[in-house]
Amino acid sequence: MKLWRCDVCNHVFEGDTPPEKCPVCNVGPEHFVEEIPKEHNPGSNMKTATRMMSYGLYVICSRKEDKMNGQVANAAFQVTTNPTTIAISVHQENLTKECIDDCGYFTLNVLGTDNMKLVRRFGFRSGREFDKFKNMNYELTDNQVPYLKDAAGWLECRIIPDKTVNIGTHTIFVADVLDGDGSKDAEAMTYAYYRKNK
Ligand SMILES: Cc1cc2nc3c(=O)[nH]c(=O)nc-3n(C[C@H](O)[C@H](O)[C@H](O)COP(=O)(O)O)c2cc1C
Repeated sequence: MKLWRCDVCNHVFEGDTPPEKCPVCNVGPEHFVEEIPKEHNPGSNMKTATRMMSYGLYVICSRKEDKMNGQVANAAFQVTTNPTTIAISVHQENLTKECIDDCGYFTLNVLGTDNMKLVRRFGFRSGREFDKFKNMNYELTDNQVPYLKDAAGWLECRIIPDKTVNIGTHTIFVADVLDGDGSKDAEAMTYAYYRKNK
């Protein structure tokens, strides 16, 4: 099955051949152009540009009943200011994703330039293999979600269930920010800083 776009009114028709007559503007088949779905160009250098995109660096913490867990993420950003909402992108196989699905809350811990140790602990092995919170300096929010006291700052977030979207390997969670705090003197770690200094 092919897609055909009318070059007069832009109507798109689905079929092996273009229609005899455009159902919207009545022009003939000679006005239909095959619509080729736009795919990623395999020969392009788009990675050169995507690698230049800027990010911060965070540990996302959540819990599934008694099991607390967290993971490093650079894919996080503020969506709106009033009310404050943020979005995060989490791989579907991560234990952290399972925890967020289960309890509906997470904390976004903003890393500072002195938090390299937290990246190593939370970013390279799954909490399915070991207890990432053992000997960690953490506290619990009002909703019993852990946050890291050694990070530069933290936000407590509640997911908005009907705004959760699966995209291929990842899930985007959009969440309301309920609470948080931070150290005014800390220097936030960027993804670029991490790559340069790891
Ligand atoms: C610098 C860095 C950035 C990362 N960014 C993300 C991210 O944005 N989203 C994601 O799902 N995983 C990201 N990861 C990978 C997870 O932190 C990693 O797979 C983690 O071990 C998953 O842990 P879990 O299974 O305990 O949840 C990143 C890792 C590093 C080191």
